[in-house]
Amino acid sequence: MRYGYFDDDRREYVIERPDTPLPWINYLGLDAYVGVISNTAGGYSYYRDARLRRITRYRYNNAPLDSGGRYIYLRDNSSGEYWSPTWQPTQRALDTYECRHGLSYTLIGSSYAGLRAEILYMVPLGETLEVWRLRLTNERDTPADMSVFSSVEFCLWAAQDAMTNFQRNYSTGEVEVDDGVIYHKTEYRERRDHVAYFACSEPLAGFDTQRDTFLGPYRGWDRPAAVERGESFNSVAHGWAPHGSHHVHLALAPGETREVIFVLGYWENPPDQKFDPPGSHIVNKTFVRPVINRWLRPETVEDGFERLRQSWTSLLSPLQVDTPDADTDRMVNIWNPYQCMVTFNVSRSVSLYESGIGRGMGFRDSNQDLLGFVHMVPERARERILDIAATQLATGGAYHQYQPLTKRGNNVLGSGFNDDPLWLILGVSAYLKETGDASILDEQVPYDNAADSAAPLYEHLERSLGYTLDRLGPHGLPLIGRADWNDCLNLNCFSETPGETFQTTANKNGGAAESVFIAGLFVQAAKELAGIADLRGLAEDAISHQAEAEKMAGVIAEHAWDGAWFRRAYDYFGNVVGSSENDEGQIYVEPQGMCVLSGIGVQNGLATKALHSVREHLATSHGIVLMQPAYSRYHVELGEISSYPPGYKENAGVFCHTNPWVMIAEAMVGNGDGAFGYYKSINPSAREEISEIHRCEPYVYAQMIAGKDAPTHGEAKNSWLTGTAAWNFVAISQWILGIRAELDGLRIDPVLPDSWPGFTATRRFRGATYEISVTRQTTTGGRVSHLVVDGKPIDGTLLPVAPSGAVVQVAAVIA
Ligand code: BGC
Ligand code: NOJ
Repeated sequence: MRYGYFDDDRREYVIERPDTPLPWINYLGLDAYVGVISNTAGGYSYYRDARLRRITRYRYNNAPLDSGGRYIYLRDNSSGEYWSPTWQPTQRALDTYECRHGLSYTLIGSSYAGLRAEILYMVPLGETLEVWRLRLTNERDTPADMSVFSSVEFCLWAAQDAMTNFQRNYSTGEVEVDDGVIYHKTEYRERRDHVAYFACSEPLAGFDTQRDTFLGPYRGWDRPAAVERGESFNSVAHGWAPHGSHHVHLALAPGETREVIFVLGYWENPPDQKFDPPGSHIVNKTFVRPVINRWLRPETVEDGFERLRQSWTSLLSPLQVDTPDADTDRMVNIWNPYQCMVTFNVSRSVSLYESGIGRGMGFRDSNQDLLGFVHMVPERARERILDIAATQLATGGAYHQYQPLTKRGNNVLGSGFNDDPLWLILGVSAYLKETGDASILDEQVPYDNAADSAAPLYEHLERSLGYTLDRLGPHGLPLIGRADWNDCLNLNCFSETPGETFQTTANKNGGAAESVFIAGLFVQAAKELAGIADLRGLAEDAISHQAEAEKMAGVIAEHAWDGAWFRRAYDYFGNVVGSSENDEGQIYVEPQGMCVLSGIGVQNGLATKALHSVREHLATSHGIVLMQPAYSRYHVELGEISSYPPGYKENAGVFCHTNPWVMIAEAMVGNGDGAFGYYKSINPSAREEISEIHRCEPYVYAQMIAGKDAPTHGEAKNSWLTGTAAWNFVAISQWILGIRAELDGLRIDPVLPDSWPGFTATRRFRGATYEISVTRQTTTGGRVSHLVVDGKPIDGTLLPVAPSGAVVQVAAVIA
């Protein structure tokens, strides 16, 4: 069952009924000002850091789900009837409803009782504000006497504190209302120099800034007292819950359309010019007022919307494909890169499943997010790499996370996730392959942001590799530390205390838990670093990194091959994990994917065997589960993984992030049907028609789909913020379609499903544009052996780098 459809031409997903199985959300804002918005206008906004600079308040896990947001109420003053054009929060049954989630904007339209409303929500490029543009049309043949009420609840900035420290916070709230603009200025009197503001383009009939006055005692958002009675209370908040609501009267002739613009924004004043007059406590509005005035003008909004849409056309232009499969096209051309942009921007901090207070930017996560983002805005990828590297520790280790506002490592979570440093090599390598900009390797970057510790980025990469080599266990495999990619495989944790977090509990010392996954990742990272060393003319480094890769591959073959698949780990006591010797958790997907994509076993047949085992034991019609058999009970020596009920999350859920590794591995062994079959099984667009089972948004990947051991097999959870986005983009574009940036050029080496006659693509790479056409001459399998470039054949599949500005015609034949 579907709840909407894709409008590919407009690059929108159109939701046709408001009661989707879960709130289906979108993101507004590509830089400092970010908002989450649902299909019924729920959600919230923040500036740079959702934990420290929250602008509007949101209550997660609320009942009803997703209440609180960017609400507009419409009231027919002749009848007293009122409703929400976004359905929530009044839930009045609307005559028509449509939500169009586009790229960085959302349009919600509806009609009720002859009044048609359309609201555009967007954050204009380069601004720290959001615009809500309401267009209201009277479709009756009589005049309509209408009231419009806006509503947002302000957050007192520090999100965690604002939802816990009520004894203080009920007394700190302050606002100002000046010339129709509501300013939220809690704590501005002391150390803050920022305010939020909420403005309206029309003359006000009234306003409210105290939530409980606007709503009335013991009332919810579904029937605010001000709206019900048709008149604001002009309340001024002192303490309690600061709120913003405007009241506008609109008299609409039959057929008439009126436009009302609301602007909600964030503003910082210079610390020495906070107040006007100086010495008072009144917010200085000299700097912000021109910005507000500009964005209240319809032409500014129209132009801003147009610029936003154009910017997405250009962001998506580096790769556009035309394949025989619509689900592939719309994911590769539109939604997958869009999700990659969002994961790059917000990491794992803000969604309907991440509260914005728990997690900052992940070291591992952000490096992987780069893989799907770097081709869109390489300059921002470069900046991110340098930020991440500056949090690296002098040991080569890494904080697991850092705060985006301060760019400092997060001490609470600490370090010791021993895979973390290796991902930096993969991130930098992806940047170099895309841009050819080797100057980044010479950038001076500190360790742990400490003064006087700066060293060239290249040295950071060396230390990343060294960090693994300094921590090898009894089999010569890397020690796992707190955990590796699988945050829940906590082999040194041994937690017996209820509620203790597995992520931070002190590790037991003296054990020797080793990770085969890190070993596989190390092989890949060492090979990448060898390539990078070559690029710098450091032939000896390159040779030694290559040798390290080979040595580790040898250790894996000797100590981690289980007979039909790669083992997962050795635990604290040296017992094997992920082996046929185990009762539960015999085979894990991660080492199969990571070892094969690192090239291990591709020559000698182990790769094919491992992939066969994946198909036999782990593949389902809803994707590949993380391991089998699921843990049926808690294993203290394994940690969080066995804390989940079977079939969920790391305990044998389809942890989607791992699936593209297997797609890549299948492509590496030449199995196009296998790779593409896995791709389709988790492609959200391909799952659209089972939305009642999948339940999450059909336009983005979710972190997890419940595995076959769960009663809800096929149900997705934790949409949006997942490494699945970047890795699926890599799998489909670079390995199945086979268009892959390398240090020396652009590789064209597709591994397609047998049923495809070919495809075409346009790829912009280092300033040149490649018009690529791939055709198939075989009925099954086959690879490209040479390319025809502007009419001339060249051997092999690597396109040399063309001059910037060139348009290159490339033909490839699968034979
Ligand atoms: C989840 C992991 C996640 C970790 C991070 C765990 O509970 O299962 O997927 O990475 O928390 O906090
Ligand atoms: C989610 C985390 O963000 C990611 O870093 C981790 O690899 C997976 N969980 C698997 O545990």
